[in-house]
Amino acid sequence: MGTKNWNEQFENLRINGARLQKTIEISAKIGGTENNGVQRCSATDEDKEMRDIFAGWVKDCGCELTIDEMGNMFAVRPGKNRDLGAVMTGSHLDTQRPGGRFDGILGVLAGLEVMRSINDAGIQLERDFILVNWTNEEGGWYPPACMGSGVWMGNITKEWAYDRKDRDGKTLFGDELERIGYKGDFPCDHKKWNVEAAYELHIEQGPVLWTEKIQIGAPKGILCLHWYDIWLEGTANQVGPTPMKNRNDALLAFSEMNVVVNKVAHQMGDMVATVGEIQNYPNSRNIIPSKVHFTVDIRSWDDDHAIEAWRLMKKEFEMIAERRGCPIKTEEFWKVEHAPFDKALWDRVVESAEELGFSSRRMVSGAGHDMSEVNKVTRGAMIFVPSIDGRSHVEVEDTPWEDCTRGGDVLLRCILKTASEV
Ligand code: GLV
Ligand code: MN
Ligand code: MN
Repeated sequence: MGTKNWNEQFENLRINGARLQKTIEISAKIGGTENNGVQRCSATDEDKEMRDIFAGWVKDCGCELTIDEMGNMFAVRPGKNRDLGAVMTGSHLDTQRPGGRFDGILGVLAGLEVMRSINDAGIQLERDFILVNWTNEEGGWYPPACMGSGVWMGNITKEWAYDRKDRDGKTLFGDELERIGYKGDFPCDHKKWNVEAAYELHIEQGPVLWTEKIQIGAPKGILCLHWYDIWLEGTANQVGPTPMKNRNDALLAFSEMNVVVNKVAHQMGDMVATVGEIQNYPNSRNIIPSKVHFTVDIRSWDDDHAIEAWRLMKKEFEMIAERRGCPIKTEEFWKVEHAPFDKALWDRVVESAEELGFSSRRMVSGAGHDMSEVNKVTRGAMIFVPSIDGRSHVEVEDTPWEDCTRGGDVLLRCILKTASEV
């Protein structure tokens, strides 16, 4: 293997930052919120509108577009030697509810900008270049996250994914994907693709690069993501006449459990754990809560460490449930193992940043990404750019345009290098 097809034209090629900005600004209008964010959950009308535009853009680039059974969109730019494994990039165009303009979107639209720039330069790559829009990375309306890449990789089945309900429990993901016209025919299976390497450009979504004023982040991999559901049964009653000592208050039991989640994460260290979602029933100010559902998200570089944390949390939950007279049910909902990236590609990200004169830093990704799944079936790596004030999964999520351009240039260089390896 060698980059023998690398040449001066590649050396001097850069993306068009102004065009990338314009493309992201068009995207930001679809599902755009009053506070400058975007609400565009997977399998909704807004998702369809964005997908239709994206499909037009990649067709204008001369790509073959394949839509698989999970709605994953693969835009293929043929290379000289179609028997060689492709170089892939992409991320997701769906958002949190509401989310920002950059999470996932930057990775897809910078990938598009890379493709446009390679086209403008009239370059034919040795390898196929595949740009992907993965379906439902956020799981914002239909949990879990990384659904499209998860089915593609084989972590979950497509039938299970189709049966996921929206957070109000009213619609099924598979039905809505079909309704918007993006339940494709092509098998959702990584074995149908020959991928040599994959890169994902993403905003960091944390404070490290911004605080340290570093331009490019090179994660060594992604923490594991373990998701659990917990249901508590209390006894509803009139709040006035019911003495404090005779209550089975499900919300009170939950409150103690939330503190346990935080305590265990602190005590064990090297992990984060969060209760992010809770439903309280009947949610009335003068009825003792009779039912609570909540979620726990545990992340660590060490999967066993995260599993041990859950064991300790669950043990304490059961003691609290017993003491408060609130029967408990727990379920593991979803799990993605930690994803250590390919060392050579990880080095390539750092080396490319250096060659372009950008400051860079090795780090780890606390956020989950489609690369958590993709990396398990091919060589993978990610490129991070700073998030202003480390904010993400919020409408104010922002990244300076110069940083988006820098990230796009590193992505371009990594793609050109891998595409030149024959
Ligand atoms: C994905 O957005 C995550 O939860 O990290
Ligand atoms: Mn993302
Ligand atoms: Mn996200």
